[in-house]
Amino acid sequence: MDTRPSRRELLTLGSSALLASVALRSAVNAAETETRIPRFQVSLPIPEVLNPVKARRGRTVVVRHTNELRTSTVVHLHGGVTPPESDGFPTDHIMPGVSRTYTYPNDGRAATLWYHDHAMDHTGRNVYMGLAGLYLLEDRGESALRLPAGAFDVPLVIQDRLFDADGAFVYDTFHRLAAKGGVMLVNGAPWPRLEVAARKYRFRILNASNATPLRLALSSGRPLVQIATDGGLLPVPVPLREIPLAMAERVEVVIDFAAYPVGARVILQNLNDRDISGRVSDEIIRFDVVRSEEDDSALPGRLSDVQAIPADAAVRTRHFVFAGGPELGFPPVTHWTINGRDFEIDRPVATPRYGDVEIWHFENRRRLGILGLIHPVHVHLVNFRVIERDGGPPPPHETGWKDTVAVAKGHEAKIVARFEGYRGRYVVHCHNLEHEDHAMMARFDVV
Ligand code: C2O
Ligand code: CU
Repeated sequence: MDTRPSRRELLTLGSSALLASVALRSAVNAAETETRIPRFQVSLPIPEVLNPVKARRGRTVVVRHTNELRTSTVVHLHGGVTPPESDGFPTDHIMPGVSRTYTYPNDGRAATLWYHDHAMDHTGRNVYMGLAGLYLLEDRGESALRLPAGAFDVPLVIQDRLFDADGAFVYDTFHRLAAKGGVMLVNGAPWPRLEVAARKYRFRILNASNATPLRLALSSGRPLVQIATDGGLLPVPVPLREIPLAMAERVEVVIDFAAYPVGARVILQNLNDRDISGRVSDEIIRFDVVRSEEDDSALPGRLSDVQAIPADAAVRTRHFVFAGGPELGFPPVTHWTINGRDFEIDRPVATPRYGDVEIWHFENRRRLGILGLIHPVHVHLVNFRVIERDGGPPPPHETGWKDTVAVAKGHEAKIVARFEGYRGRYVVHCHNLEHEDHAMMARFDVV
């Protein structure tokens, strides 16, 4: 079904967006930029290709998207607390030639959010071709901490891609299992190098891959100091030798290159095994320590107040089983379901009452021991806390606010959330985009 995209198709992608009064090139233009012949780059400013939107807590941002593509698109602000008409429900298409306005009140905590296509059945292809961008939500409390800022606050958006001989992206879902590629792109550049000073940097790391879970580590063996999760700063910094980062998840880390001599090279690696395609590379980005420099930034011992939602405030628990199985046909393809059912746009599977606290229990059930893949589960509208993993407490890298929780094959996780912000229809789904496109999504309504 999925064929290699032709050059022409890629080059006709184009669109425009307006952010308040600031003109932005849209996420779609990124697709053109990204299909240029890959090159190494030495310095890594936030490139245009990510179209970063900077927002401040409490200040509404209005984005007008004009679709100049030949395919429909939908835009979702991942991690945002967004009214339903602006949240990008998968059938709220912006058809070719049409514009749509999205309103983002930005009431959530300061965090590294991102926006991406969410069109029914073809999100995977659209995101793969470039429809994803960063959305940095800031607030005063965080700015006051004196964490590394400006040129020392660097987003790293990681995506793996497969290229054809002309340097164009090849979108292959491997029979609806996972679109993976052997080339790691960071902010659109393959295997980049970043020249750094021997001082502290803050890195906002997003795994924007369609289907590749990562496990981050430094080649030097030194720990990464994690300061934030999907939903912003942790209470205290947590040093970790490895940080798992599934699709759509974000972590923020501080790396102090003062620990290395000038001339040192440190690689941010992916420790995860190659799977399915066998083509996932282990090198993400290389940091070259090139000079010493004054460092007036701080890494405070106390970062934020993360208010726990007490699990006993929950009025109910809902159970969601994520499973996949083969579908008859030739070639055989995979069918992905939640609680045994396909995504149905008119049928909410849950109707939490506004203001209620609920526990949602996600289970990744293997069928016949095969097709066991990780399902990063994303819930729109809410930020949640992970309260339990396979009966035990969550690991340290996910003790802050989350909007996506990775559930590996045969495992389960429980989250607690308060359903507030807006009433209306939202979705919960797997963030392996090939699973999402093949029905592993469900509607819920806050009533
Ligand atoms: Cu990042 Cu429903 O998506
Ligand atoms: Cu999945």
